[in-house]
Amino acid sequence: MLNSQAYIQKNREKFLSELLSLLKIPSVSADPSFTKDVNDCAEILAENLKEIGIERVEICQTAGFPIVYGEKIIDEALPTVLVYGHYDVQPADPLDLWTSPPFEPQLKQTEIHPDGAIFARGSCDDKGQMFMHVKAVEAMLQSGELPCNVKFMIEGEEEVGSVNLGVFIKQNKEKLKADIILVSDTGMLANDVPSITTGLRGLSYVEVEVVGPNRDLHSGLYGGCVANPINILSEMIASLHDKEGKITIPGFYDSVINLSDEERAEMAKAPFSHAAYCAALEIQDTYGEEGYTTMERGSIRPTLDVNGIWGGYIGEGAKTVIASKANAKISMRLVPNQAPEKITQLFTEHFNALAPKGVKVKVTPHHGGESAVTPIDSIGYKAASMAYEKTFGKKPIPVRSGGSIPIVAMFEKELGLKTVLMGFGLDSDAIHSPNEHFGLFNFYKGIETIPYFYHYFKTLCKS
Ligand code: BES
Ligand code: MN
Ligand code: MN
Repeated sequence: MLNSQAYIQKNREKFLSELLSLLKIPSVSADPSFTKDVNDCAEILAENLKEIGIERVEICQTAGFPIVYGEKIIDEALPTVLVYGHYDVQPADPLDLWTSPPFEPQLKQTEIHPDGAIFARGSCDDKGQMFMHVKAVEAMLQSGELPCNVKFMIEGEEEVGSVNLGVFIKQNKEKLKADIILVSDTGMLANDVPSITTGLRGLSYVEVEVVGPNRDLHSGLYGGCVANPINILSEMIASLHDKEGKITIPGFYDSVINLSDEERAEMAKAPFSHAAYCAALEIQDTYGEEGYTTMERGSIRPTLDVNGIWGGYIGEGAKTVIASKANAKISMRLVPNQAPEKITQLFTEHFNALAPKGVKVKVTPHHGGESAVTPIDSIGYKAASMAYEKTFGKKPIPVRSGGSIPIVAMFEKELGLKTVLMGFGLDSDAIHSPNEHFGLFNFYKGIETIPYFYHYFKTLCKS
C-alpha cells in the first residue's frame, strides 16, 4: 500500500471540511448576479493549491471567468499529468424543491449512500470531484510519493460552454504540455460496480422563435384565421420525431458511426435493471428509439430534446389571446462523427422549411461541442483500470456516457492529448437538479484511487 493512503485516512475530516467551504460559494457561471462569487471561488481554490505545495499558481484572466492554473514539476524527464476540472456550477433553481439550501451543504443518508452524502449544488458536478484531485495530490506530496509531474487547469465556465478555454489552450500550449489529461467530471455505474467512461456525446444547442401576427390577438376575433405561433411551434416540434422515435431531420443520421453487433454485445454486459431504472424515476416505462436498449439510447445514439418552451399567457386564470410569438430551446446530443456545426445547419434548414407561410422562423445557435471516445488499450486507460481494481477490488467496466464535456475533443485537437475520465459520481446524484449530492464513499474512494493512477501511469510509461 502507498503511504499516501495513510495520510488520506488521517485527514478525512479536514478534506471534507475544506470541500464544504468551497461548496458554500455560489459560483454560478450562468447568472451575472453571482459574478463576484465565481471570482471568489477561483481565489479560494488558488489559495488551497498554494497551501498544498503546488507552484506557479496563477489566476489566469480570460474574457470571462478565470482559469486556475498551478503545477508541480519534480523532474522534467518524468511524465506529466494535466488535471482538468471546473469550479463553476449550474444555477440552483427551482429553489423550493431543495430539501436544504443549495449553498449550505449538509450531510444526509440516502438509500444508495448509507454512509452519507453531501447535499449541495456542485457537490458532484464538479467541485467535489475536482477537489478529490487536489486532495490526492496533497496526500502524495505530503508523503513524498508524487511519482510524476502534475499540472492543474481548473476552469470557471464549463457550465456555460467553456467559451474562453479554447483561446487559453491555443495561447498556452507550451505551459500545458503533458502526457495525459485526467478528469473526474463523469460518473460510474454503482458503488459496487466501478466503471470508467470511454465516450461522451457531442452537443448542438439551438433556440427557436416562431413569429406570427405583429401583436397579440383576441382569440375569438382572430382564432381560426391566422397561424397561431404556439400551435405551429408545437406541431413543428412534434414532427421532429417519427413513430419509431427516429429524428426526422434529413441527413441527421448520415455520418453516425454504427456500432458492430460485437461492440453492442460487449456493451450489453454492463448490469442494467429496467425495473430499478423506472422505479428510481417513478415512471411506468422507458421511451425512445426503437431497436435500441435504454443504455444504448442514452449513450451511442443521437437524440433531440426540447429543454424549454414558452409563449402566450401563463398567469392566473384565463386570458383569451393568440400570442404573436412562441419560443423553445432544443438540444441535440451527438455521437462520433456527427459534426455539431453540420447538425446545427441541418436543423436550421429543416426547421425553416417546416414553417407555413403565415409565420416567420428564427433559429439561433448556442454553444455546441464534439463527441469523444477514448481507446481502452491506451496506457492512460490501463493505469486507471489498475487503480480502480486496487481500490474497489474489481476490474472497472468501460462505459460510454450520454453527457458532454466538449473540451475533451478540443484537448485532443489542440494539445494532441488523450483524456482519461475517472468519474466517481452516480446518475442518481441529481447533478443539474435540485438536491444534487455526492456520496462520502465516492469522495473518499476517489481520493484513494487517484494516487494509484499516478503510480501505475508512471510505471506503464517507463515500460
Ligand atoms: N459533468 C457534466 C457532464 C457529464 C456528467 C458527463 C455526467 C458525463 C456524465 C458537465 O458539467 C455538463 O453538465 N456538461 C454539459 C455540457 C456543457 C456544454 C454545458 C451537458 O452535458 O449538458
Ligand atoms: Mn461537470
Ligand atoms: Mn454540469
